[in-house]
Amino acid sequence: MLKIITHPNPILRQKSQPVTDVGVEKIQRLIPQMIDTMLVADGVGLAAPQIGENIRIVVIQFEGETYAMINPRIIKKSFAKEWGEEGCLSLPGLAGEVKRHKKIALEFTNEAGKKQILKAEAMLARIAQHEIDHLDGILFIDKAKKIRKFNTDE
Ligand code: NI
Repeated sequence: MLKIITHPNPILRQKSQPVTDVGVEKIQRLIPQMIDTMLVADGVGLAAPQIGENIRIVVIQFEGETYAMINPRIIKKSFAKEWGEEGCLSLPGLAGEVKRHKKIALEFTNEAGKKQILKAEAMLARIAQHEIDHLDGILFIDKAKKIRKFNTDE
């Protein structure tokens, strides 16, 4: 399992660089390690800066599926937004309400180097927006209202 870095580590605040070659060993090794780390930590998503790498990779688990997204980009977003609760593995013990686009379309490269388009709404759209924010150095606490603390032993 990779070490998850936490706020206020400055790595979390840097803008991440695009991946230029998906096929290189470093990237091919990193993606399954990121997925394992997310699953073990019981998170719904993990972005590369959270494991100390300022590169544009996120992994997501949603309804039993895992996604690896390299250089993800939001290419469409609904005008409609909605509030919903978020937390973050890099901000243990904190949760808050964040307003996100209800529906988005994402473009990304998968681990096999193929360009993909994915339409997402509700929870999956929220997770993707949260993770892509990490690639630009943005944390949910920057956007949240009603930030609350909870006991992580629960
Ligand atoms: Ni996060």
